[in-house]
Amino acid sequence: MAIKPVLKMGNPLLNQIATPVAIADMLSPEIQSIIKDMKDTLDDQQGLGIAAPQIGILKNIIIFGYENSLRYQEATSVPLTVLINPVITPLSEEMDDAWEGCFCLPGLRGLVSRPTYIRYEGYNEKGAFISVEAKGLHARVVQHEADHLNGILFPKRIKNIQYFGFEDSLDYQMKG
Ligand code: NI
Repeated sequence: MAIKPVLKMGNPLLNQIATPVAIADMLSPEIQSIIKDMKDTLDDQQGLGIAAPQIGILKNIIIFGYENSLRYQEATSVPLTVLINPVITPLSEEMDDAWEGCFCLPGLRGLVSRPTYIRYEGYNEKGAFISVEAKGLHARVVQHEADHLNGILFPKRIKNIQYFGFEDSLDYQMKG
């Protein structure tokens, strides 16, 4: 059990591009230990997903999954998924706006537009190739986490800065 501190926005590591994990290394003790730490940290923070750079590790690894979330009651649950070297392909031009938060910006939320339908591919923690089609919250979480691997935090994706602020002060009905 190793809960790691989550870096906060402003830390230069969060702006870096992470590097792919070699297939031969996926089952290595080093990578497996990173995955374990990410799971422990995600569990502790009670979020929907986490990316390795958030705990200061510049490798292309994300983890996501959730039961029915209080915040997103309409969303169906997604099993806890480890995705190494993710590649994301939008499957339509349709975009959704929704409020996002991030462990790196505690207390803040912003309205972010993302493709509604995607396919994501990569490798799970056993080194097996996976390819999954996702929509809605599922697609959003994967895209949010994959953005971390390119040094992108969600404020960079906010089109109207009016829709960015502290979660206890925002008017969630407003959309532009
Ligand atoms: Ni995040």
